[in-house]
Amino acid sequence: MKNERIITEMSLKEDEDQTLRPQQLKNYIGQDDIKEMLDVYIKAALKRDESLDHILLYGPPGLGKTTLAQIVANELGGQLKVTSGAAIERSGDLAAILSSLNPGDVLFVDEIHRLPRYIEEVLYAAMEDYVLDIVIGKDEQTRSIRIDLPPFTLVGATTRFGDVSAPLRDRFGVVFRLSYYTTEELSDIIRRTSKVYQNPIEEDAVLSLARRSRGTPRIANRLFRRVRDFAEIIGDGIVTKDICDLALKKLGIDDNGLDETDYRYLTTLVKKFDGGPVGLETIATSIGEEVTTVEDVYEPYLIKEGYIKRTARGRVANELSYKVLGIKYYKGLLD
Ligand SMILES: Nc1ncnc2c1ncn2[C@@H]1O[C@H](COP(=O)(O)OP(=O)(O)OP(=O)(O)O)[C@@H](O)[C@H]1O
Ligand SMILES: [Mg+2]
Repeated sequence: MKNERIITEMSLKEDEDQTLRPQQLKNYIGQDDIKEMLDVYIKAALKRDESLDHILLYGPPGLGKTTLAQIVANELGGQLKVTSGAAIERSGDLAAILSSLNPGDVLFVDEIHRLPRYIEEVLYAAMEDYVLDIVIGKDEQTRSIRIDLPPFTLVGATTRFGDVSAPLRDRFGVVFRLSYYTTEELSDIIRRTSKVYQNPIEEDAVLSLARRSRGTPRIANRLFRRVRDFAEIIGDGIVTKDICDLALKKLGIDDNGLDETDYRYLTTLVKKFDGGPVGLETIATSIGEEVTTVEDVYEPYLIKEGYIKRTARGRVANELSYKVLGIKYYKGLLD
């Protein structure tokens, strides 16, 4: 049986269940610092009857950026209009979206680092002064017309903060970095998901799933859905510890929450490149993954958990990598 991939970039996006998205700030689990500040900003904006400052959210995939944008719109009593940096190619595309906004709406621009620079420039005036400057005509005939926009809030999201241009970054009044969730927070999310789906789950199964979720709510929910399938087919719908263990084993997810690709990454780094240092591109090519997928999806977790480190000369395997692969670590001894 081919193992189902749990954490590729594609699978991270697919079969997202909207019913699992918390709709209000108080139901959003974790990210306490962000919640606390957002709560103040939202209340202040509502009280003054002003639009909320533009917000830039960044962090690894699946940590709840889109969810948070939706919550901001709900709390402000506005609509969420969603677009993506890669989807806007012409300034007309942006103009169409901006002019469809109503006062208090939230414009969500996912993958904002992918906006072309000339589109960004149109966005600056829209963000700062709520106006849209469009150039019409050709050659000597060109003239610029200015359209007033309703006060709105832009929420930008990115997995690559470093790729957002400085002038664009500067136009966000609020910048939040989402962090990986603790096992306790993931446990809360799993319990909540179990309630939404009406599939009870045993407490030790909760912990088992939370530990394998790589600090990521989307993965927690995804694992829950897979395990629930097993519970419904071989059990009576209750997610027991036994069913959970069986399902995880079938899905090829081990105690460390590492999957097949993580192992391919670590094996390549340790065996083929003797623990590094080796360049990101070289590793990505060797394991047949996109450079961006490796950098944005796999590495942050491997770094966080201490398996690898980034150095100026490339990626280096830490002792922990040798340990999970069952290979003797001799590095420090010979250096
Ligand atoms: N704080 C949270 N509390 C409860 N559930 C959450 C939370 N954050 C995320 N989720 C769940 O995880 C799923 C993924 O979150 P979301 O789509 O917001 O991530 P994202 O950061 O936008 O990811 P990407 O970078 O891939 O766009 C949501 O559908 C939601 O069910
Ligand atoms: Mg998203």
